Amino acid sequence: MSGRILLTGGSGRLGSYLRDLLPNVVAPSRTELDVTRPHTIVAALDRYHPAVVVHAAAYTNVREAERDRATCWAVNVGGTRNHIRALAGRETFLVHISTDYVFSGAEGGYAEDDVPGPTRNYYGLTKLAAEEIARCAERHLIIRTSFRPSEWPYSTAFTDVYTSQDYIDVIAPEIALAIRRCTEVGWDTLHIATERKSVYDLARRRCPGVHAGSKGDAGVDLPRDVSLDIARWRELKSRWG
Ligand SMILES: NC(=O)c1ccc[n+]([C@@H]2O[C@H](COP(=O)([O-])OP(=O)(O)OC[C@H]3O[C@@H](n4cnc5c(N)ncnc54)[C@H](OP(=O)(O)O)[C@@H]3O)[C@@H](O)[C@H]2O)c1
Repeated sequence: MSGRILLTGGSGRLGSYLRDLLPNVVAPSRTELDVTRPHTIVAALDRYHPAVVVHAAAYTNVREAERDRATCWAVNVGGTRNHIRALAGRETFLVHISTDYVFSGAEGGYAEDDVPGPTRNYYGLTKLAAEEIARCAERHLIIRTSFRPSEWPYSTAFTDVYTSQDYIDVIAPEIALAIRRCTEVGWDTLHIATERKSVYDLARRRCPGVHAGSKGDAGVDLPRDVSLDIARWRELKSRWG
């Protein structure tokens, strides 16, 4: 892929890594490009003429989203719809960042073509709706992922919650690779994560003294297993060498 990359959400956890990892990237602040204000998206597309738009901006506070549904919907669903409208008639390729939370978390091992939902929380619902809007872009790739900050932030971690998420410094380079080669992926949806493990096992990698806990102690309804099947991504990487 050659040409400029326009990144939304460049000040966020993932976006900050992508800014360093991607070539020729421009990441306007929210003041310049507010996804809820359609004319700012059009203006950025006209200004930068990107070959690829990476749409990583989102309302990501899962707990707050239950309370502030209007904002979460406006940013995640409205913001994606505004992008699709702005991209109409352009050659630009859209890479849309999505989440394992589009799945219920009842079974785990979800493959890209598994039927999503029912979502566990309002954030997951908005991200699922956003995915379906993103699919209306003529040229697109939806990346479902999940990540943690590079340090484990809590004193406990759950032994009975399973995930394929990993630390942001592990996941971001993988996503950057997929973005650099987005036009060669050949699929419209891609899971980028690592192997299935308990959250406790993930935490112990960076915080050996972390205490074992149970999801029953969390005080919120946590999915048991939102792990993603990553066979497609592994196959692509081995093909690319
Ligand atoms: N965190 C996870 O574990 C996780 C897991 C799976 C998928 N994802 C997805 O990965 C992407 C990045 O997540 P993250 O955790 O890195 O997000 P984050 O740290 O919460 O950052 C969110 C970003 O979105 C921007 N943003 C919010 N509202 C905006 C608006 N109206 N207009 C323009 N920009 C706006 C923020 O800008 P400001 O700095 O101006 O607020 C910030 O740059 C999201 O699509 C998220 O759904 C995250």
